[in-house]
Amino acid sequence: LKEDTVVVVLGASGDLAKKKTFPALFGLYRNSYLPKDVKIVGYARTKMDHEEFLKRVKSYIKTPTKEIEQNLEQFCKMCTYISGQYDKDESFNELEKHMQEIEKGQKETNRIFYMALPPSVFIPVSEHLKRCCYPKSGIARIIIEKPFGKDLGSSRELDRALRPNWTEDEIFRIDHYLGKEMVKNILILRFGNEFFGATWNRNHIDNVQITFKEPFGTEGRGGYFDEFGIIRDVMQNHLLQVLTLLAMERPISFSAEDIRDEKVRVLRGMPSIEPKNVIIGQYEKSLDGTNPGYKEDDTVPKESRCPTFASMVLYIKNERWDGVPFILKAGKALNEQKTEVRIQYKDVTSGIFKDIPRNELVMRVQPNESVYIKMNSKLPGLSMQTVVTELDLTYRRRFSDLKIPEAYESLILDALKGDHSNFVRDDELDASWRMFTPLLHYLDDNKEIVPMGYPYGSRGPAVLDDFTASYGYKFADASGYQWPQTQIEPNKL
Ligand code: BG6
Repeated sequence: LKEDTVVVVLGASGDLAKKKTFPALFGLYRNSYLPKDVKIVGYARTKMDHEEFLKRVKSYIKTPTKEIEQNLEQFCKMCTYISGQYDKDESFNELEKHMQEIEKGQKETNRIFYMALPPSVFIPVSEHLKRCCYPKSGIARIIIEKPFGKDLGSSRELDRALRPNWTEDEIFRIDHYLGKEMVKNILILRFGNEFFGATWNRNHIDNVQITFKEPFGTEGRGGYFDEFGIIRDVMQNHLLQVLTLLAMERPISFSAEDIRDEKVRVLRGMPSIEPKNVIIGQYEKSLDGTNPGYKEDDTVPKESRCPTFASMVLYIKNERWDGVPFILKAGKALNEQKTEVRIQYKDVTSGIFKDIPRNELVMRVQPNESVYIKMNSKLPGLSMQTVVTELDLTYRRRFSDLKIPEAYESLILDALKGDHSNFVRDDELDASWRMFTPLLHYLDDNKEIVPMGYPYGSRGPAVLDDFTASYGYKFADASGYQWPQTQIEPNKL
């Protein structure tokens, strides 16, 4: 970690900064992970004084103990705020002046710019930062947040605008799923365990499902969401990142470029998504009438065809995966909160068994991080009856004093260290947009394609189970199996 670092949070009065960036910076500070004498500068258009700014910073940080409350007071002493425009030299000159003041006496000037900003101002801000606030010595890094464009064309445009001012080495594109504990575990589970490694291919795996479910709708965020939809919001980025880690070949090392080279290689082996392998849905009023439909939000156009749910099947044309469907599912306003990966193995050879359920390896990303394997075993007793059981690694039970870092804490720390492993590289982004863009344009352009309705709080459109079954996924429900942790509250474990 570089001493003498200033972290500038641009968009400091916005939602992302309040809910994620500042709490993560505070989390790092509290655990002594920030560089010594770091300074944090908030920058935004909103005119407010120092006190008002700190009030906002504090509003999303929980202080359950006196000690944490005191830590927060100390943390606030490192924070300052300055308001300014996003497209004016004078404003950025003011920011520069402010930084020079707080950097007085330092040996170096290392500056990290965190852009918690709407996409419309990405480009002007990145240009102004380079022109007016680029450090004369030390390092400069810029952290940017999705959306990185809306399709291949707009993503390349954004890239072209950043290019003359910032090198790839200075750019950190956040996909916060790459900071999640279980996502970071994928490469370890795969490559650190011979029995997974040996069966990790089309000869043994029948299908892979990656599921993202949220129990709330887009209330209050409808304006943003309607422009993007669930596919751009979480599938082209978060779920595809998970898929890439599941499917890539073994990297030569854990260095950032070795990992990202393999990720790009697998993405390049994937044809663009075919509309026939996709279903889309939009939520309607809940069955009991208490939760509103997507279009009842005032910020959403009445004729909106925006998908709030989608399921799609992707294929990888290489020796390891040819023919294995990767089924992605994502939806808002569903029956539960859950993100998981489910690897379903093929049927065992028939003969001695009749209809014995398949093995499944499940990685529960959230909530209640766990890895479990569904497997068949003999039911104890005198008969030879089989039963589905599990090998279960539930983090909260296995690791005492478990403290799972927030995704943003882990990523901001990586950016401070200059480690790009968990950030998205330019060619990776390009390859992912190439795969999604034909589908997105097809859905945008064909007015007759309307999403299927599903009630708020349901499992999604009624055709979902038939859709997944048609790609070979076999529900084990007939055996009556349910993972025992499903019903237990995390804090009861
Ligand atoms: C964001 C999406 O990137 O990820 C949101 O824009 C979504 O729509 C969120 O709710 C999910 O993140 P998490 O960490 O809560 O699973």
